[in-house]
Parts: sequence; structure tokens; C-alpha cells
Amino acid sequence: MKHVMSPLDFTTEELDKLFDLAGDIERHPDKYAHICDGKKLATCFYEPSTRTRLSFEAAMMNLGGKVLGFSDAASSSASKGESVSDTIRMISCYADICAMRHPKEGAPMVASTKSRIPVINAGDGGHQHPTQTLTDLLTIRSLKGRLGSFTIGLCGDLKFGRTVHSLINALIRYSNVKFVFISPVELKIPDYIREDVLRKNNIPFQEVIRLEDSIADLDLLYMTRVQRERFFNEEDYVRLKDFYILDKEKMSLARPDMLVLHPLPRVNEISVEVDDDPRAVYFKQVQYGVYVRMALILTLLELA
Ligand code: NCD
Repeated sequence: MKHVMSPLDFTTEELDKLFDLAGDIERHPDKYAHICDGKKLATCFYEPSTRTRLSFEAAMMNLGGKVLGFSDAASSSASKGESVSDTIRMISCYADICAMRHPKEGAPMVASTKSRIPVINAGDGGHQHPTQTLTDLLTIRSLKGRLGSFTIGLCGDLKFGRTVHSLINALIRYSNVKFVFISPVELKIPDYIREDVLRKNNIPFQEVIRLEDSIADLDLLYMTRVQRERFFNEEDYVRLKDFYILDKEKMSLARPDMLVLHPLPRVNEISVEVDDDPRAVYFKQVQYGVYVRMALILTLLELA
């Protein structure tokens, strides 16, 4: 049985198959409308979420399946002290597949060791967020026509942003990807990513502070929210939260075909005036998130 903890749980060939399936789902949704009739997805969310939880639920419903679960730790037995290992043993009796989000790094991994059903990591602390990465990769592949041979700027909270960490891990496997990391000094990528992921694999990257200085070089700009909930004090958050605001003026410096992605939720880092720019694809990205989760559920349940 396969669990999904990191985007690296799939080879690039397996990812291609998954993205082809997502593409077929996009073109022929009716073909897939009943494949999961009688199946159940459990969403166990110990941390807030809108997109990830609802897109998992929409994905299962689009396949004809049903969903159950909880959307915050306070309404589950975690508030009574139950461990994730015990919770997943029980969920294994209720559902066929489980998506789990947890504030502690590694919690979904611990759960998977005790699970009788596939467990998908739906975000664990500041660590990984594999299904957001699958969404990002499918968006890039569909709208750019390729994975690889581009310069991608990642901007904002590169220290705590798990979507950033997962995406970097996934993208280094494609050829000719250059990274520009745009962040305040306090929110730079973690050392283990700089050393063990990038330097070790000879991946070209730059670290800069000003978005204006590098935006003209980018094929893709991945904006992120400053992760308030992972800060140790509110003062630092307040000082850094509006460090970057992507607006029309900055977009005028960018290439005509540069795409702007964002995992969402957006706070202030992208001005709403950018939303109508055809290069802003963050809401399209949300739709790709449903297709790719449908493809993932089918693959893990061996129904594809
Ligand atoms: C992200 C997350 O939860 O890490 N959101 C998401 O799943 N789309 C990004 C964020 O919360 O900033």
C-alpha cells in the first residue's frame, strides 16, 4: 500500500502518469463521475485549511465517493489526548483513504505506520505539503507546457513555508531549473535545503532581498504568505508581514509570459489589482488542485 508523505514518493515517470490522468479528468469529467461509488475519504485536519480540505472533499465527491472527517483538533479526540496512531487505527475502520494535516512535522508519517488505508500528508508543520506541490507542478506543466528549463522565483516566507520546501525538492529533479529565492534575511530558506538539497545537487540558485531587482529574469513567480502561526513572537510577524506586495507596477517589470502562482490563502502579498492580469494564475491553480487530487485518489485506491 502506498502512502504519500513527500512529492519524492513518486518518480518523475509516475508523476507524468498522474498528470496525464489529471489532464484526462479535466477533459472528460463524466468518465470518472462514479469510479469511487461506495468509497470513503476521511479528512483529518488538526490545523486550519480551506482549499486543501475542501479540494480533497470535492475531488472525492467528483469521483462519486463520500467524505467524513474533522476540520480542527478541538473538535476531535485529540483534544482529549488521543494520539494520531490511535486515531488512524480507528479511521482505518471507517474509510478507504485518509488525508491528514497536522501542525507537527512528521505526524502523518507516524500515522501511516499504523494505518490500514493509504494516508496522504496534507501539510505537516513547516515541513512538506506534497499535494500542493502536485497542484503546482500540474499548473506549470499545463500552462507552460513543460516542467524544466525555466527560472522560478520563490518569494516571501521561505523559512516556514512548507509549500516552498516541497516544491524545491520536487523541482530539482527536472533539468535546467534555476531558482531565485526572494526573502527578507529572517525568512531565508532553511540551511538543510540550501546545503543538502541545492548545493549537494549542484542546483543553480540565488538569494536576493528585493523583488524588483529580479522579477524581470523570471519565467515563474511563486508568491507565499508570511506564516504567522509559525512565528515565535507577534512583533517579528508584524515587522515582516508586508515586506512584499506584488502590484501592477512590479508586474510591469516582468516578462509578458511570466506566470504568478500562489498556494493561497493570500493576505497582502499580492494586491487585488493583479488578479485581472492574465499572468496571475493562482485561481486557475485551485482548479488544477482538484484534478490532481482526483488523480491521486484513483491512483492510491488502484482504480486508475
Ligand atoms: C498553504 C499551506 O497550508 O501550507 N495553503 C494551502 O494548503 N494551499 C499555504 C499557506 O497556508 O500559506
